[in-house]
Amino acid sequence: MDTTVAIKWFQDQGVEVVTLTANVGQKADMRSIEERAYQAGAVKHYSLDLISEFAERFVAPAIRANALYEGKYPLSSALSRPLIAEKLVEIAHKEGADAVAHGCTSKGNDQVRFDVTVKALDPNLEVIAPTRIWKWTRKEELEYAKLKGLDIPETHSKYSVDQNLWGRSIEGGELEDPWAEPPEEAFEWTVNPEKAPDEPMYLNIWFEKGIPTSLNDRRLDLPELVSELNKMAGEHGVGRVDHMESRVIGFKSREVYEAPAAITLIEAHKDLEKAILSRRELKFKSLADNEWTNLVYEGLWADPLRESLEEFIAKLNHYVTGEVRIKLYKGSVIVVGRSSPYSAYSKEIAGYDEGWYPSDEEARGFIQAWGLHTLTTRAARRDVPKIGIRGTAPVAKGVYFFHEA
Ligand code: ARG
Repeated sequence: MDTTVAIKWFQDQGVEVVTLTANVGQKADMRSIEERAYQAGAVKHYSLDLISEFAERFVAPAIRANALYEGKYPLSSALSRPLIAEKLVEIAHKEGADAVAHGCTSKGNDQVRFDVTVKALDPNLEVIAPTRIWKWTRKEELEYAKLKGLDIPETHSKYSVDQNLWGRSIEGGELEDPWAEPPEEAFEWTVNPEKAPDEPMYLNIWFEKGIPTSLNDRRLDLPELVSELNKMAGEHGVGRVDHMESRVIGFKSREVYEAPAAITLIEAHKDLEKAILSRRELKFKSLADNEWTNLVYEGLWADPLRESLEEFIAKLNHYVTGEVRIKLYKGSVIVVGRSSPYSAYSKEIAGYDEGWYPSDEEARGFIQAWGLHTLTTRAARRDVPKIGIRGTAPVAKGVYFFHEA
């Protein structure tokens, strides 16, 4: 409604409006949107199919980065904004426009993402957000629309919804009470886990360099794979997220999401990384992942750090190739198996019953050196008298590894 009304509002001020709708997998009827744009007075309309580009340039790095903002939100809406902003600038240049406009309010993160990305690409391009200017209530806006004869579809949804290939964001209405459980009608992509099938579903996902490429041995491109998985996991009630979110504009907000594929793929990808990456790579990667995720959430896709981190994260994903077996069951996604040509796991080393065991002497020697920092600092602070071990000097003040029996 905001963008439809905005077209008319600009026209009233003698401004010519070219409109753009991006298909990022939100399953909207692009034709009827185009019709609505022309009805509202647009002089030209662009319908762009961006699903592949969205998947390759935005969803893929999010998978490699295990991107979950504040540990929960798979960034679905946040990822689409910089791409749409890029296209806005592209079309603005093509059409010789003086400004670009969007329908975001002054409370949300999306305005930050659009404005910063547009300004990063063309600092001279003005960004106008009519809803930030007119400050109408929903009722006042509807009255204006009626007055101008605009065809506003009766949105039966009480919620503010934004969706794309990677997920569905649901805000507003009774969800604004953080104590109230989200009602069933808020959900569209997932069944209630209580009503999910009693039989679990097993699924094999093959990853190449950190990106899923096959589902149950069927090779699929990323948009297809994600769409299919949204259906499969959604049917098992997987992907509901209820989140107290810290917004960029300084307040908390209760956000509800449905992201069956995102939740499943990130869980699987994380697990595969654990089999392949070294302990130190894993530890450091989580810092890079977190920073990347925050930059994207905070509207700073254009920041050079985002790009550098992305390259680093892709580099760490170079060997993240292999298969993960998962079980979808009544709202949960459980990894039950993983295998990879680059798995660092060795049964010969790790096994309980056979193979390599460090000798007693090797184990004690390692543990002595390993624990020494901790024990020497503790001893120093307790002023323990020096007593020799095995008749010689202690390893350090008060530290004895090998007591005489
Ligand atoms: N809170 C989420 C974010 O900042 C979702 C925003 C979705 N926008 C909407 N109009 N419902 O990315």
